[in-house]
Amino acid sequence: MYKSELLAQNLRQMIENEVWKPHEKLPSLREQTQLSGLSLITVLNAYQTLEAQGLVYAKNKSGFYVAERSRQKPSYNAEVSLKKAVQINSAVFHYLKSIQAEDILPFGSAFPNPELLYNQKFMQLLAQHAKRKNSYLNSDSMPPGNLALRKIIANRYILQGMPCTYDDIVITSGALEALNLSLQALTHPGDYIILQQSVFYGAWQAAERLGLQVITIPDHPQHGFDLSAFEQALKQYPIKVCWLMLNCQNPMGFTVNDHIKERIADLLHEYQVYLIEDDVYAELHFDQHKPLPMTYFDRHQRVLHCSSFSKTLGMGTRIGWVHAGQFSDAIQHLQLMSTLSASPLIQNALVDYLSHHHYEKHLRHLRRQLEKLKKKYCQFLKQNLPAMCEFDYHPSGYFLWIRLPEQCDSFKIYEELLSFKIGIAPSLLFRPEHGTQNFLRLNCSYPWNDAIEHAMDQLCCCIENSIQSMPKPSSPSG
Ligand SMILES: Cc1ncc(COP(=O)(O)O)c(C=O)c1O
Repeated sequence: MYKSELLAQNLRQMIENEVWKPHEKLPSLREQTQLSGLSLITVLNAYQTLEAQGLVYAKNKSGFYVAERSRQKPSYNAEVSLKKAVQINSAVFHYLKSIQAEDILPFGSAFPNPELLYNQKFMQLLAQHAKRKNSYLNSDSMPPGNLALRKIIANRYILQGMPCTYDDIVITSGALEALNLSLQALTHPGDYIILQQSVFYGAWQAAERLGLQVITIPDHPQHGFDLSAFEQALKQYPIKVCWLMLNCQNPMGFTVNDHIKERIADLLHEYQVYLIEDDVYAELHFDQHKPLPMTYFDRHQRVLHCSSFSKTLGMGTRIGWVHAGQFSDAIQHLQLMSTLSASPLIQNALVDYLSHHHYEKHLRHLRRQLEKLKKKYCQFLKQNLPAMCEFDYHPSGYFLWIRLPEQCDSFKIYEELLSFKIGIAPSLLFRPEHGTQNFLRLNCSYPWNDAIEHAMDQLCCCIENSIQSMPKPSSPSG
């Protein structure tokens, strides 16, 4: 953990223990520097992290103060629920069309700002490979995919402490193909699967396509994942597979702690259930260490781990993979009947790029940029969102998941903002089975400027209008 994160964590604990009361001043930057022995910039970074988390606020030239703890805790219903027939694809289709136009501000997009992902070295290598005849030959890129690329990916697992060989890896066209083929290999129509209550719409689409019945686990307000509801679902239903996202979750942003992951692994073994883990944002952490995937905790080969280069080098690379282990063969069979193989040209260029340590440098730069931007958006929204709204700052990725009062409908806000050429992602896409739709996801990977600030003002204004038009509680009649 970085020194600034450690300091932020200690200060957060002290605020929670009420060492300082709301509106009391924290030690000045200079005092904190002397107290902690850390540099001024490290201390400033820690204070800014607390500010982005809404725990402190800055007063001009006066210092940092403890914020009011007025943020209501979400009402929390720990029930699991069953959805027998999922229908979401059409809504996702129309939503994606609606935000695709070039003049729509892309706060609804699932992908980071392409400018941040642009990588000159990778482009040069791609251009070089594009000129070689061999780059288009399919032989080495057929399932399970380019051998050198699989070795590089396997090494990345080993470096994080997991046993892995290139035979475990199948290269796919993006993570979406890896996830879909894994689910197809493990289920039959009518089977029960577990999803998180709020989850990437691709999971709902996959359930729709394969005719699966979905059990949802409620979103835990503190830990992100509700272990007891998970266990209850495993006891109550004949679950075949879980599709979970535990690192930098889309849309909510949290990363589940290692104790919970360890317990999930035990439960998978106990109930003989497989897990398909969607881990496409794992590289976008702001902490020093990459969060561990479930594969790390899995001692009984129950986990299929899926990821890609879409969120780090660009969605257009369309190269992903699944650490499929014993299911490698089944997945390759399905791949042969669908896309055949991922692009040989891009697989070859990636091998060259990843072999020369360019990627780590690119990732470090990308993480720094995303962290700065996320803090900037948080700072603005903390000050300008109506008081009844809330969101958490998670130190990874580029999404903010904003909770509005329960009576607000984020789909209506999305429709209104579209008329101002502003895109956002309403919660209907992520939790279609839920009665209340009072959340929205915001992509904050675009550089702050006047146009962005104006759009954020417009967003706050639409939310305020939506709150104003909420039905007022009726006054008791006399
Ligand atoms: C959570 C999640 N999983 C998977 C994907 C698909 O990734 P890929 O572009 O690599 O297919 C996305 C894309 O937005 C995503 O947000």
